[in-house]
Amino acid sequence: MAAEKWLMVFGATGQQGGSIIRYVLDDPILSSKFRIRAVTRSPSLPPAQALEAKGVQVVQADADDEDSLRQAMRGAYMTFAMTLPIFHDKDARQRGIAQGRAIADAAVVERLEYIIFSTLPHVQKISNGEYRLP
Ligand SMILES: NC(=O)c1ccc[n+]([C@@H]2O[C@H](COP(=O)([O-])OP(=O)(O)OC[C@H]3O[C@@H](n4cnc5c(N)ncnc54)[C@H](OP(=O)(O)O)[C@@H]3O)[C@@H](O)[C@H]2O)c1
Repeated sequence: MAAEKWLMVFGATGQQGGSIIRYVLDDPILSSKFRIRAVTRSPSLPPAQALEAKGVQVVQADADDEDSLRQAMRGAYMTFAMTLPIFHDKDARQRGIAQGRAIADAAVVERLEYIIFSTLPHVQKISNGEYRLP
C-alpha cells in the first residue's frame, strides 16, 4: 500500500533532520507508512535537490516566517522539528523561543496529529549553574 501520511521534517538539509529522513527511507515499515516532506529555506540548492532525487517532497519555509510555516504544513500528518542553529544571534534566546512557538502554532492551526520536538536539556541545571544562559 502506498504511503499516505506526510511526515514533515525540519532541518532536512542538515544533520539531525537529514538523519531522520535517512532512517525513515531505509526502514521498510516506516517508509511504507510515511511520505517525507522536507523543509528548507533554499529549495534550489544542492542539498534540497539531493533530497528530491530520493523521492522526498521539498517545501520552502522559514521558522522566522509564520505564513510560510502554515503553508508548508498544510496537509501534513506530523512534524519533526528542533531548535535551529542561531547561537551567534544576539537575541538567540528570544528568537529560539519565537521559532519554536511559531512551529508549534502552525502545527496546531494546520491540525497536525503529532509534533516531535528535539531540543537540549537545560544547560544551567545540568552544569549545576556553571554555565549560564545568556
Ligand atoms: N547535530 C547534533 O549532534 C546536535 C546535538 C544537539 C543539538 N543540536 C542542535 O540541533 C540543531 C540542528 O543541528 P544540526 O547539526 O542538524 O544542524 P545543521 O546540520 O547545521 O542544519 C541546520 C538545519 O536547520 C535548518 N534551518 C536553519 N535555520 C532555519 C530556519 N530559520 N527555518 C527553517 N530551517 C532552518 C537548515 O535548513 P536550510 O539551511 O536548508 O534552510 C538546516 O537543515 C542545532 O540547533 C544544533 O545546535 C545538534
